[in-house]
Amino acid sequence: MRLLITGANRGIGAALADTLRARGNEVLGTARSTEGLLKLDVADPASPPALAAQLGEAPLDALICNAGVYFDKPETLDTGFPAQMWADMFAVNVTGVFLTVQAMLPLLERAATPKIMIISSQMGSNALAKGNALIYRASKAAALNLGSNLAVALKPRGIAVGIYHPGWVGTEMGGAGADLTPAQSAEGLADRLDALSLDATGCFETWDGRAHPY
Ligand SMILES: NC(=O)c1ccc[n+]([C@@H]2O[C@H](COP(=O)([O-])OP(=O)(O)OC[C@H]3O[C@@H](n4cnc5c(N)ncnc54)[C@H](OP(=O)(O)O)[C@@H]3O)[C@@H](O)[C@H]2O)c1
Repeated sequence: MRLLITGANRGIGAALADTLRARGNEVLGTARSTEGLLKLDVADPASPPALAAQLGEAPLDALICNAGVYFDKPETLDTGFPAQMWADMFAVNVTGVFLTVQAMLPLLERAATPKIMIISSQMGSNALAKGNALIYRASKAAALNLGSNLAVALKPRGIAVGIYHPGWVGTEMGGAGADLTPAQSAEGLADRLDALSLDATGCFETWDGRAHPY
């Protein structure tokens, strides 16, 4: 399979690129600035179409929207969560996912069984609301909702969409004390990619294949 992973220069995205390459796939990894990777800044509306133009005509079997930001970990309710932070985080975690999907649709539609994985989070689940990280939680809930709607919109076009919680993973974002290494999360997510089909489209699952509450 020919796959594109956003945010493949570090963390879960880099581990996914390694795992999927080791499983015999052609992996196209993107980064904002890392040498040797395709250039993509999902917060820049011009960037996804420019990348699509660069990719040529070959079919894309899977798009993995992994790039994400979590700036509001230390923010407090009474004085924190400034407006610009809402805009900046939604630009990456929500709009960035949509613009990347939109730009890649023509290439995905050329594949035999195209798939889109959206890396959301358990923190986007309404069932697990904890009252903190309000921007991150709202943005990941929006990414989940976006994935659910794209699943409906793209099913008639033959494209399966799955939304995933990668686990609590020891990356720069996940921090210390995480449950999983990036490699462990990536192995599970690679299995999820194999399992994703039009029958399962719209699923919200954990890295290890359990159905997640929305
Ligand atoms: N770690 C966890 O425990 C955990 C749990 C649940 C969900 N997630 C989700 O899993 C995904 C990966 O997380 P991670 O832990 O691997 O995070 P990470 O280590 O902080 O890596 C984030 C990646 O996203 C990229 N990125 C940020 N802004 C971007 C932009 N504007 N355009 C393109 N790429 C951009 C980063 O690139 P730069 O190097 O250029 O910044 C980096 O490659 C995220 O969507 C995150 O929300 C993570």
